[in-house]
Amino acid sequence: MPIRTIIEPFRIKSVEPIRWTTRKEREELLKKASYNVFLLDAEDVLIDLLTDSGTGAMSTAQWAAVMQGDESYAGSPSFYRFRDSVQEIMGYKHVIPTHQGRAAERILFSVMCKKGDVVPNNTHFDTTRANVEFTGAEAVDLLREEGRHPEVIHPFKGNMDVEALEALIQRVGRARIPLVMLTVTNNSGGGQPVSMENARQVSAVCKKYGIPLYFDACRFAENSYFIKLREPGYAEKTPKEIAQEMFALGDGCTMSAKKDGMANIGGFLCTNDDIIAQQEKNLLILTEGYPTYGGLAGRDLEAIAVGIQEALHEDYLRYRITSTGYLGRKLTEAGVPIVQPPGGHAIYLDARTFLPHIPLNQFPGVALTCELYLEGGIRAVEIGGLMFGKAAKMDLVRLAIPRRVYTQSHIDYVIEVLLEVWKRREDVDGMELLYEAPFLRHFTARLCPTAEVAAAAR
Ligand code: F0G
Repeated sequence: MPIRTIIEPFRIKSVEPIRWTTRKEREELLKKASYNVFLLDAEDVLIDLLTDSGTGAMSTAQWAAVMQGDESYAGSPSFYRFRDSVQEIMGYKHVIPTHQGRAAERILFSVMCKKGDVVPNNTHFDTTRANVEFTGAEAVDLLREEGRHPEVIHPFKGNMDVEALEALIQRVGRARIPLVMLTVTNNSGGGQPVSMENARQVSAVCKKYGIPLYFDACRFAENSYFIKLREPGYAEKTPKEIAQEMFALGDGCTMSAKKDGMANIGGFLCTNDDIIAQQEKNLLILTEGYPTYGGLAGRDLEAIAVGIQEALHEDYLRYRITSTGYLGRKLTEAGVPIVQPPGGHAIYLDARTFLPHIPLNQFPGVALTCELYLEGGIRAVEIGGLMFGKAAKMDLVRLAIPRRVYTQSHIDYVIEVLLEVWKRREDVDGMELLYEAPFLRHFTARLCPTAEVAAAAR
């Protein structure tokens, strides 16, 4: 019998209450938060889709492993369990724990990059870009054309433009490119996967010029499952075999274990290069900690050791990708504009098309984010004009799905709320920016609906 109902491949043993608020309360709370959902208290949010990072639920096996955490400063058995688990999947010689992904990025780029260097990536995530730029190097995004159009349907919209990569190497010279990076899946581009074929081609170009290839592996398990579903020749392989094949194409990786590590904190940095590894460990000791804990507790290492394996379980991945796809499909059927096709960890609403009457300087993405909170207590995040300023090419609203946290009925509720907002979208007001910080302004910005600003002026 073909089963159409998406069931969570787990039972719930421990529950965390979520709190209803009334529309009236939410109006006041949002006003108090200056129409910036980052300034809301989490307890005032019913369904929190701000991020899938560190917000997942751990399994009974992970909690059991946490009890085995050995907190020795040096040489803890928890480190060896963590290292062996990571090595089984990633295959790299050196595994260096860090407190989260950006710490791995900072160490990697500090060791490998200098002023005047160029780092190509399919799309740098914002912390990745910032850490490259902090060393004085230039971060270049080389996404293929189909990845730049939200409405275009393509199985691997995260792919790197291999011809552009080779052209860049020839233009700036191999000596100025210390490494190439591939982000799997491409978070900033809508959670879109990279194909094995593309990774193979990028790897071949890197080998031709003797440039190391690193993966930003945050959502590697989801990427592997997309390859299994969509790429010819992979249907019979397990997600783990696919991940192993992909990592074998590179020389190392950075990882935020807060995503497909299924942990609430942690990350790591891997490399096959002995000299680079030594330099990285020296820096690690300076700011993160001794190389067998890297800023994490032994119990965190245990949670990652188990979690990174669980992220590759096929029944889990099927539920995860199907559930996110279901949300995307229901919205698409109703005409709601989203980045197509649905990604692995999130659905991205196209706010410019959703609210065409709101001019870009009145932040359509922020307006939509506020409306989702007012209508149903849902917290999403704007990725557009407020986050990136005038450089923003799109105004998106990301609904990121925490791992193993919300059930199918929560997803149905999100759809219900969104369709309600969609129905009365013409009444949604734009936003005026009242305060902005000199950098990373989206975290602390204060805004006000334009109608209220006008009323106050009268
Ligand atoms: N790379 C990618 C592709 C990411 O999505 C993130 C984090 C990082 C690196 C940095 O990892 O947070 O552990 O330091 N993304 C989160 C998000 C914050 O909400 O998408 P981190």
